Amino acid sequence: MSTIISVQSLHKSFIRTRTSGSLLQRMNPMSRVEERHVALRALDLEVQAGETLALIGPNGAGKSTTIKILTGILFPTSGDARVLGLVPWKDRVALAYEIGSVFGQKSQLWLHLPALDAFELLSRIYELDREKFRRRRDLLIELFELGEFADVPVRKLSLGQRMRCEVAASLLHEPRILFLDEPTIGLDPVAKASIRDLIRRANVETGLTVFLTSHDAGDIESLCRRTVIVNRGEAVYDGSTSALRQKVLAKKEIDLKLVRAVENFVAPEGSSIVKQKGSGIKLSVDTQKTGIDRVVGEILRVHEVEDIAIQPAPLEDVIAEIYRRGGL
Ligand SMILES: Nc1ncnc2c1ncn2[C@@H]1O[C@H](COP(=O)(O)OP(=O)(O)OP(=O)(O)O)[C@@H](O)[C@H]1O
Ligand SMILES: [Mg+2]
Repeated sequence: MSTIISVQSLHKSFIRTRTSGSLLQRMNPMSRVEERHVALRALDLEVQAGETLALIGPNGAGKSTTIKILTGILFPTSGDARVLGLVPWKDRVALAYEIGSVFGQKSQLWLHLPALDAFELLSRIYELDREKFRRRRDLLIELFELGEFADVPVRKLSLGQRMRCEVAASLLHEPRILFLDEPTIGLDPVAKASIRDLIRRANVETGLTVFLTSHDAGDIESLCRRTVIVNRGEAVYDGSTSALRQKVLAKKEIDLKLVRAVENFVAPEGSSIVKQKGSGIKLSVDTQKTGIDRVVGEILRVHEVEDIAIQPAPLEDVIAEIYRRGGL
């Protein structure tokens, strides 16, 4: 395996200008105060070719800032980063030929143009060989099922259709790395699954390296073998997504339906009540502390149970818990 992205002590701070006082006072330039805001504290990261990596973290953690630095849109305040051996903020143009990027919140296409015209323009920008471009374009139109709307201006497309065009456009010049910042934001479950599937196929079939940020646990689980969690501009977890899943499995939920509603239900030792409504109770059990059998045994000893189901806690809950704690 070869290192394709390396990041050392990457730091980015923004200068923010604040004004205070009444409207009149705020119009006075003297009332402005400059504040340094740290977006990335000291990020270290190495990514190997062919990896699928999810960079996750709470709002404001520094995810978009990282992607913007690695794609050459922003320069860092200090620290070092190499993407395919290039310094992104110094070699932005050379890098653009080798990477693709998708920003879920901001279209990369020309809204008044159909995807077909955008592909044509992009082929000129990337100086693609005409014949190779036509073959690639037709393949992407087929794979991404764009045929029905490739000639409709992008602004007239649904979000899901637009995102399929966006991802297809980002792959037109056969980049080696694809950076995606929240690519499934706002999409319905079917559109999400389709985008994930297309990205996964590009990774498996062509060895494309995928570097993704998302707040959607489904994106992370179905697409990324590795997860890095950033909080306040620093990595607080870097490991396999399945290991994160095992942490999830350490917590289980018991869905309980009692024959009769109990007013003061006492959660067995090692468990806690998540929700209670009448005779329906949801309990959370930390199986690293208590065996699930002990908790279930205690419930069955004390109560008459109509139905019981045991489930792993959703990945979303575990991620939320990690964010709350600020790390693992
Ligand atoms: N251009 C800017 N000027 C000033 N501050 C900025 C700028 N861009 C980002 N920041 C600040 O840097 C911090 C990190 O922002 P960033 O956009 O990287 O977060 P994020 O992890 O992508 O969050 P989200 O999940 O909400 O997208 C935030 O506190 C944000 O306010
Ligand atoms: Mg962001």
